[in-house]
Amino acid sequence: MAQSTGSQKAWGGVFREPTDKRVEAFSQSVSFDKRLADDDIDASIAHAKMLVACGLLTVPEADAIVAGLEEIRVDIAAGRFEFTAAKEDIHLHIESALTAKLGDTGRKLHTARSRNDQVATDLRLYCRRAIDRLDRGLIELQRAFLGLAIREQGLVIPGYTHLRRAQPVLASHQLLAWCEKFARDRERLADCRKRTNILPLGSGAMAGTSLPIDREHVQQSLGFEGLAANSLDGASDRDFVCELAFVLSLAAVHLSQWAEEWILWSTEEFGFLRLPEGFCTGSSIMPQKINPDVLELVRGKSARMIGNVQSLLVLMKGLPTAYNRDLQEDKEAIFDSIDTLEAMLGVAAPLVAGTKFDHTRVAATLERGHLDATSLMEAIIAEGVPQRLAHEAVGHLVRLAMTRNVSLAELSDEEFCREYAGWNGSLRSALGASRAVERMVSFGSTAPALVADQMAVWQRRLDSASEA
Ligand code: ARG
Repeated sequence: MAQSTGSQKAWGGVFREPTDKRVEAFSQSVSFDKRLADDDIDASIAHAKMLVACGLLTVPEADAIVAGLEEIRVDIAAGRFEFTAAKEDIHLHIESALTAKLGDTGRKLHTARSRNDQVATDLRLYCRRAIDRLDRGLIELQRAFLGLAIREQGLVIPGYTHLRRAQPVLASHQLLAWCEKFARDRERLADCRKRTNILPLGSGAMAGTSLPIDREHVQQSLGFEGLAANSLDGASDRDFVCELAFVLSLAAVHLSQWAEEWILWSTEEFGFLRLPEGFCTGSSIMPQKINPDVLELVRGKSARMIGNVQSLLVLMKGLPTAYNRDLQEDKEAIFDSIDTLEAMLGVAAPLVAGTKFDHTRVAATLERGHLDATSLMEAIIAEGVPQRLAHEAVGHLVRLAMTRNVSLAELSDEEFCREYAGWNGSLRSALGASRAVERMVSFGSTAPALVADQMAVWQRRLDSASEA
């Protein structure tokens, strides 16, 4: 087969042959890692400033490098920068543009640095910024849920287990459940940020460097919390990428659960919710359709994020110590997870903010399904009846009500007496969906006063989150 002509290698002193064009196309990463440009430039500027402080660059050289890198940053942002597979990745692109501007001064930037510790640093900076953006997105979503919870304060809805009618709850209580889940996602993000916020630069290719560098100098300039303490691990650790992908996928799973619930709740069959029309789509053939496509896509997009976690773990599995080129494959997966969650949050918060409960439809559903059976059972237990007996008695009463197609409250005192000899009229105060809610007392329950407390707690938390 004819040998295709390749390009000159940037660091190719040892080679007698240029890189094969097919290899360039196969191994390039610039098509996707160009989004690390800003982080690469930030890290290079910090590196150059450290090199000058350590006497490895002169002040004029460092000044020229910093100015040149800032020009390159502007050119890239303005779309005036040419990307080519021949230069493999974003790191070589920026360095070669700098060298084109500054000659040998540009060639000094890579002193005491390898692309292995460089890419690890860039990716940590990128992920750290993404974590902060996504955290703000989650706060916005929590605010939207809290806002709806406050607007719907006092509304009782049927609660479900196994998607069967279970016990009545306040709509606000159910909405705050999402705030809890997204709070845990935020905690996980903050925890993952700690391990992301460790500086690998200075690890070199794998063994460190014999040049007199000051890693803490770079750490301070880039705001990292600590230094990777082992150069082999520093240049190759991608735990933070796997962790972040998982944390994001779990947030996406929460979003998918919410989406599914609201798809159901907004059906004609449930009729609990009216979604904002700007967040619904129509059908090309059925003129009456108002479809919840946005919620369906939120549910659906969680799939690729779960897939990305799998890809990353399989990528890492069995890799020998230190940098291996496999690691280049980490980027598309984590970029996709970040982009996808950001897009999901971008539509979820306004969708929640624009949704209304249909009080008439909700009220009509409360009297069906004996949602107050547990409330009655607990009222009987409170009179000293063993739980198993109270459960059985109420079970019989529910069966009777089902047979007659009435609610528990519509049974007569004689009927109640037949199942529970201690029956007295005051037990009727346990019946009805609203009363069942009002009788709750345990911390974390749907008791109106406790839910109101929780709303105040969330209000304070989310107010202070915006100050942070
Ligand atoms: N593009 C590479 C990556 O993303 C950069 C590091 C390459 N290092 C190397 N020795 N080939 O992993």
